[in-house]
Amino acid sequence: MPPVHRRRWRISLTCPPLIALLALLFAVQGRAAPILEGDRAIPLLGNAGMVVTSHPLASEAALKVLKEDGNAMDAAVTAGFVLAVVQPRSGNIGGGGFMMLSSDRENRVVAIDYREKAPAAATADMFLDQSGAVDTRLSRFSLQSAGVPGTVAGLLLALERYGTIDRERALAPAIALAKNGFIVPPRFTQGFEHLRKHLQRDKTTQALFYKADGSAYQPGEKFMQPDLARTLQRIAEQGHKGFYAGETARMITDQMQAGGGLITRQDLANYQALVREPIKGRYRGYDIYSMPPPSSGGVHIVQILKLMEPFPVARFGHNSARTIHLMAEAMKLAYADRATHLGDSDFVKVPLKGLLSDRYANQRRLLINPNRATPSSAIQAGEAPAYESSETTHYSIADKFGNVVSNTYTLNFSYGSGISVAEAGFLLNNQMDDFSAKPGAANAYGLIGSDNNRIEAGKRMLSSMSPTIVRYKGKNLLVTGTPGGSRIITTTLQVIMNVLDHGLNIQEAVNAPRIHHQWLPDTLRIETGISPDTIERLEALGHRLEAKAAMGASQSIYIDDEGIMQGAADPRRGTSSAMGLWR
Ligand code: GLY
Repeated sequence: MPPVHRRRWRISLTCPPLIALLALLFAVQGRAAPILEGDRAIPLLGNAGMVVTSHPLASEAALKVLKEDGNAMDAAVTAGFVLAVVQPRSGNIGGGGFMMLSSDRENRVVAIDYREKAPAAATADMFLDQSGAVDTRLSRFSLQSAGVPGTVAGLLLALERYGTIDRERALAPAIALAKNGFIVPPRFTQGFEHLRKHLQRDKTTQALFYKADGSAYQPGEKFMQPDLARTLQRIAEQGHKGFYAGETARMITDQMQAGGGLITRQDLANYQALVREPIKGRYRGYDIYSMPPPSSGGVHIVQILKLMEPFPVARFGHNSARTIHLMAEAMKLAYADRATHLGDSDFVKVPLKGLLSDRYANQRRLLINPNRATPSSAIQAGEAPAYESSETTHYSIADKFGNVVSNTYTLNFSYGSGISVAEAGFLLNNQMDDFSAKPGAANAYGLIGSDNNRIEAGKRMLSSMSPTIVRYKGKNLLVTGTPGGSRIITTTLQVIMNVLDHGLNIQEAVNAPRIHHQWLPDTLRIETGISPDTIERLEALGHRLEAKAAMGASQSIYIDDEGIMQGAADPRRGTSSAMGLWR
């Protein structure tokens, strides 16, 4: 089937020269929000490199690596460590995540899994109280809520196997920013003011991130992190051991022992990031690569695309009631499967081939009524054919060598558990809450899980993070992903469909209002911007709509057939930043 995607927007053909010049200027400046030409949101352009992250200081440091002939993987590692300094709500070394790398020259895509793992002492019922109910304070805001951090192992693995610069160079910008400080933007202040009461429960967090009088650093003030600088320096000097053994390991385990946490020196010593085979699917002639388990993201993005493929959504229209209805119905089916079938495939059998098969998609599609919303209560997970088998941050990078990187990593909540490691200067994740503390009980995102995602020693908790790369005829085309908890899968899906089905340029695709359905609760969540008559028609089809806060922050890149890189920073985050390079 010929691709539906039309590359409607061309700076050389449709852009007046002044706008082209403006775009070029922005290409070396970077910016926080898209500019508009008439009704078109214009992506940032470059042809020798593009970096789109959630913070200008991370974009700037990564762009410098590209400018000095480093590759996308080098730049991604630098960005990851810089975000751990300048954006403590989600940038991290105390959490974990996933990275997808794709090389045009080698025609190869690999996935790096650096998700946190349950410590050896973790047990299935560790978050249940005496009555058998889930104690969410324990699963979210205690030392026990921390999984063994994976970020340092993941970034170092990416650098050692796929990068070209040395560790010292990759970490230098992060160390300098931690040691010498940086000027805080309003979003930094807002985060710490908003969660002041919660974060100041931990005295180390208070001392690290607030002034002596307990107030938050204000926009324009300088913020320094000497403890974190020393921790990063140990990583630069000693590599993996600089975090998972020695001083830093001692600091983490001292704290665990003193406060009832489970992570031991052995857990840290045992942690390894893994290279995995990505999930691959085909949609309208495009190759979709996304994250395999322990993420559910890749499986369900491909599954929803397969369910949608026969519907002529381009003709039905972008965000029309008909298109949204069909997407919501497909989302429900996928999330019902997520709740039953998904978990860490190193521990449980995930029927990946079945879930991704055409036969299964064709069967499940029969459950979609084009004229009526099916109540979630009437939907169960399918019998997948038994073949063998509110804060995260995403960035996308492309280099002049034909490599792209899509990376999503997280502490789970904003600022994770809110607990920092004394002397080491960083926050710990609360990712253990992503396990099913009890089959059928919802996690913080309202996601239900089954036995497949129960807590087990050494297991990785199920995730929705979906760093994704779309290739066309063996070339990288789209690099995307987003934060947003359970909304990650549907947000990433919509960016892909907005480009491939509806012909939006990447900035429009990122900006466009989003919808989300996750089976349970049975509500169709919408952003502002969906038209009132569309809402009325969706209600008439039987959907229960809920307008809530904006979803996700998709930092994305599109590379056209002339090699022009279009970067789109998501305007939903005040610090989103796309920066490009010209040869
Ligand atoms: N902590 C959110 C996720 O991994 O999906």
